[in-house]
Amino acid sequence: MSDPIDLAAFPPDFAWGTATSAYQIEGAVAEDGRGPSIWDTFSHTPGNVDNDDHGDDACDHYHRWPEDIALMRTLGTDAYRMSIAWPRIMPQGDGAVNAAGLDFYDRLVDALLDAGVTPSVTLYHWDLPQALQDRGGWTVRDTAQHLAAYTSTVAERLGDRVTQWATLNEPLCSGWIGHLEGRMAPGLTDLTAAVRASYHLLLGHGLATQALRAAAPGARIGLVTNHSTVEAASTRPEDIAAATRMDGHINRWWLDPVYGRGFPADMRELYGVELPERPGDLRTIAAPLDWHGLNYYFPATVADDPAGPVPYAAEVRLPDVPRTGMDWQIDAGGLEALLLRLTEDYGVRKLYVTENGSAFPDTAGPDGGIHDPDRSRYLEQHLAACARAVRKGVPLAGYYAWSLLDNFEWAYGYDKRFGLVHVDYATQTRTIKTSGYQYAEIIRRHRADTR
Ligand code: FCB
Repeated sequence: MSDPIDLAAFPPDFAWGTATSAYQIEGAVAEDGRGPSIWDTFSHTPGNVDNDDHGDDACDHYHRWPEDIALMRTLGTDAYRMSIAWPRIMPQGDGAVNAAGLDFYDRLVDALLDAGVTPSVTLYHWDLPQALQDRGGWTVRDTAQHLAAYTSTVAERLGDRVTQWATLNEPLCSGWIGHLEGRMAPGLTDLTAAVRASYHLLLGHGLATQALRAAAPGARIGLVTNHSTVEAASTRPEDIAAATRMDGHINRWWLDPVYGRGFPADMRELYGVELPERPGDLRTIAAPLDWHGLNYYFPATVADDPAGPVPYAAEVRLPDVPRTGMDWQIDAGGLEALLLRLTEDYGVRKLYVTENGSAFPDTAGPDGGIHDPDRSRYLEQHLAACARAVRKGVPLAGYYAWSLLDNFEWAYGYDKRFGLVHVDYATQTRTIKTSGYQYAEIIRRHRADTR
């Protein structure tokens, strides 16, 4: 049988990684001086998270990280995307630095490097210190400045060993889902707050980029954004216009300003919210980057929805298409299309897939193993799409599977399992799933063929 993935398309130094984020795996939320984050508050508010799950213990990675690094070695991955918990470094969000927090990441980075795994560090993966939320969170400009100050502190400590940095993870989710849809922390449903938050998140990205350049001259800096391809549900002009609006809302609003085009005029008009702009901000937001990280999970099909919420485009659920356990449509072609768009339309010169993966209800087989053919197929299809994109000229430098471990899946709690490694939360036992072994085999084959 021919290889479904054209592995020879990937360069010899292609980064093979897994990804996680701090709040989703660390646990130990009250240990060693960590302050509360907006996700502690949100998840402890009844009704916000399925089963009222929270991240208090999560995968207990804060104590079990040596075992988790050993898992990376078993998988043969040479890259690991992780995030730093801002409230461990600055429990109040600004001001006093908590030495124990910095020490934790210092040890983790050293151990990763000793294991031959290159860390790619994301500074903000949604866990804003609650103290900053109490002062307005992302709706106020100060929070962007505080992100930059926290970034300097982390970069001064780790910048001699960490070279791969991302400022934000998925500002779309912090901005739109956290402030407009209310399904994520801080749980607001306020268009003005959401637009202001989106602006300050991107400003924070620009200021953090400056802080990184100053504190760690060798840093290679990127931004991680999530996107979907958008199709109109029909050829009706109203549906086509709805697709343009949805594309503006989830794609252009986040990419245009970062790549020097400013905020899209059609969306500014649609939102009708004055941006808290100051002279020079757009230049800060469009600071040159070394790479872009794309998180991709699913495509979108939309129809006009004049009575619905902004952007007046309702998602249409297509019948008879394959879906994951999240009910997300599976379409690897969307990943290829977005990689091409970032390259051709936005001129990105180095790309990573910083997240991609799938949740399915896993059960142990009679042999005790976790056999997950659906996840394996998803992985294979999306890596094949990456290879096609590379053959078409996309400068893709690596792929990080979401996720190393089953973990706290935000508002869905622990029931949705994305890991290549299964976690039994009662005992914290880790078991590599069949898809994990498959990923290891793909990596091994690529190396054998190209190195
Ligand atoms: C992304 C998040 C990540 C994870 C995956 C499934 O939106 O960045 O933390 O929850 O979805």
